[in-house]
Amino acid sequence: MDAVEVHGFKLPLLGLGTWQLSGRDCTRVVLQAIKIGYRYIDSAQMYGNEAAVGEAVRTSRLRDEVVVCTKVAPERLAPHDLERSVKESLVRLRLDVIDLLLIHWPNPRVPLAETLGAMAKLKHEGFVRHIGVSNFTVALVEQAVKVSPEPIVCNQIECHPYLNQDKVIAATRKAGMAPVAYSPIARGSATGDDVLERIGKAHGKTAAQICLRWLTQQGIAVIPRTSKVERLQENMSIFGFELADAEMREIGGLARRDGRIVDWSWSPKWD
Ligand SMILES: NC(=O)c1ccc[n+]([C@@H]2O[C@H](COP(=O)([O-])OP(=O)(O)OC[C@H]3O[C@@H](n4cnc5c(N)ncnc54)[C@H](OP(=O)(O)O)[C@@H]3O)[C@@H](O)[C@H]2O)c1
Repeated sequence: MDAVEVHGFKLPLLGLGTWQLSGRDCTRVVLQAIKIGYRYIDSAQMYGNEAAVGEAVRTSRLRDEVVVCTKVAPERLAPHDLERSVKESLVRLRLDVIDLLLIHWPNPRVPLAETLGAMAKLKHEGFVRHIGVSNFTVALVEQAVKVSPEPIVCNQIECHPYLNQDKVIAATRKAGMAPVAYSPIARGSATGDDVLERIGKAHGKTAAQICLRWLTQQGIAVIPRTSKVERLQENMSIFGFELADAEMREIGGLARRDGRIVDWSWSPKWD
């Protein structure tokens, strides 16, 4: 599996998203994903599926090869609570260590240095292998890298052809973090797009695969979600071909002002 290397950590360029997957269905899809070669699974305390994800990872017997990522909910970022919540995550996952622990959303009510300090402590104690952030803006990325006692390996952000994220991607890289794209096929709305379909046809690929290739070709990791085992292989088959420069530019040109999909009352002020 192709990977980006960041602070000595090899983050696979392809992972499986699990938002809205739960229970047995979640375990089944995650287990099948690992069986066919996925080596990075994205979960979160907020998704309520850590137990199902952990079960799939343990059942696969490939635990040591899989990057298990979970995210701390924004209301649990104060140091004592963060520590408690991560230990609860480990109990639900039934794993000894979380490979990648992210701040799910910034919380302006908790000083960032305190949260990152608590995450570093969990890393030193062996509960967590690597730490990262999600939904961080340029200003937050710059602040985080200044105050973190440990390297921050990634910033997981919404990223697909309909949203121009150039500024935050550049800031993320400048701060030594890998960008990870969530909603990489724009929640499925990229399928049926005329431009992506046309470019796909030229390569014998689907619009979803073109989206994922466009991101990974820029060195951006992707975590598409599917609840359908038959789509796991499709979303994985994105590495044996290359988009031409003109195609990369044309796909980049699909960005629009209203392209953002994920925006909550607690979102930071986006760049
Ligand atoms: N950090 C954050 O705040 C944050 C926010 C959002 C998401 N995420 C993470 O990122 C992951 C991915 O994002 P997402 O779930 O929002 O959106 P996404 O992966 O862009 O799209 C998922 C949707 O696309 C469909 N789909 C998947 N593969 C397809 C294919 N090959 N052809 C056609 N349709 C396809 C899925 O339907 P089927 O299930 O029917 O295949 C699902 O409805 C999440 O699951 C989660 O792990 C993180």
